[in-house]
Amino acid sequence: MALLPILVAPDSALKTVSSPISQVDSIVQKQMQDMLETMYMAPGVGLAANQVNVLNRVLVMDCADHRAGEDKTPFCMANPDIIWESEEYSVWDEGCLSFPENFAEIERPARVRVQYIDENNQIQEAEFEGLSSHCVQHEMDHLNGIVFVDYLSRLKKSMIIRKVEKIKKGMDVL
Ligand code: NI
Repeated sequence: MALLPILVAPDSALKTVSSPISQVDSIVQKQMQDMLETMYMAPGVGLAANQVNVLNRVLVMDCADHRAGEDKTPFCMANPDIIWESEEYSVWDEGCLSFPENFAEIERPARVRVQYIDENNQIQEAEFEGLSSHCVQHEMDHLNGIVFVDYLSRLKKSMIIRKVEKIKKGMDVL
C-alpha cells in the first residue's frame, strides 16, 4: 500500500467530472486500498479519487466513530449512484481534506440509498444516514467536480478559498 498526495484547492482535478470504470480489477483494488490508507492517515472520513488526482469514479469512506470504540467500517465504491433519497433534509458541519481547516454547514437529504460496485467487483446497495449520508453525498459530488463550498454564498466561499490559499502557500514552502 502507498500513501497518496491529497490535492488542496484550487486544482483543476477537483473541478473535473470523473469517468466511470468498466470493472474493479486489481489496479482499481490497489487504488481503493491506497485511498483508504491515505484517508485514515490524513485523518478523514471520506476521500474521492480526484482528490488524489485519479479521474475515475471511485470513493472510499469510513464514518465509524473510532473514539467511541466503534470498529472500522470501510466502504470502497466504484460508480456510486443514488437510487433513493429521503424528503427530509439534515444539516451537517462538513469539512474536506482538499480544504484543510475549514468547515461549513451544508444541507442535504438526511438519508440516501446508494448502489455501487464494491472492492470485489460486486454490485451492492447500502443506505446511509447522519454523517455517513452527508459523507457519501459529499464524495459523490467530488466525482462530479463539485466541492462543498460550491453550496455556500459567494462571500462565504471566497473567504474559505482565501484561507485555504494561505494554508497552501505555507505548505508549499515547507
Ligand atoms: Ni471533500
